[in-house]
Amino acid sequence: MELRISIVTCSDTRDLARDEAGSVLEGLIAGQGWTVASHVVVPDDVSAIAEAIVDAADVRRADVVITCGGTGLSLRDVTPEATRSVCDRDVPGIAEAMRAYSMTKTRRAMLSRAVCMQRGGTLVMNFPGSTKAARESWEGVFDQLEHAAMMTA
Ligand code: MTE
Repeated sequence: MELRISIVTCSDTRDLARDEAGSVLEGLIAGQGWTVASHVVVPDDVSAIAEAIVDAADVRRADVVITCGGTGLSLRDVTPEATRSVCDRDVPGIAEAMRAYSMTKTRRAMLSRAVCMQRGGTLVMNFPGSTKAARESWEGVFDQLEHAAMMTA
């Protein structure tokens, strides 16, 4: 199954040209033979992030939306709140798997508040924002994405 995956990078300091984690994710998606449905950078703002998730899911028709960044403990980190505001159902096992795998790389992984949820037939996954963390989060879950998308289709 050819997945369509959108990337929503959440950062006050990055733009598309400087979104290293986002471009690493683009490469990992393409490496599976899947399609990058869209890639945007939005500020750490609940409404901006929520709008970008809705656009990726409802307009771009992405099977999966990966948000990148804004999952930590700083008060500017609001990606999980934005995700919850536009999604219906929690998929806790994916976030658990991501954190469990990430904990084998760094114990700081427990500091990510990332959630994974469904908006209709689209799976929305929060990844932490550093290039290393985004790559490791991908490694922890990518092998189950096709099956997950098949079940929601
Ligand atoms: N997960 C993995 N796999 N690798 C990492 O290096 N860094 C952690 C955590 N998750 C990390 C990780 C750190 S240091 C933080 S602060 C949180 O993700 C939140 O990151 P974010 O605010 O960029 O989303």
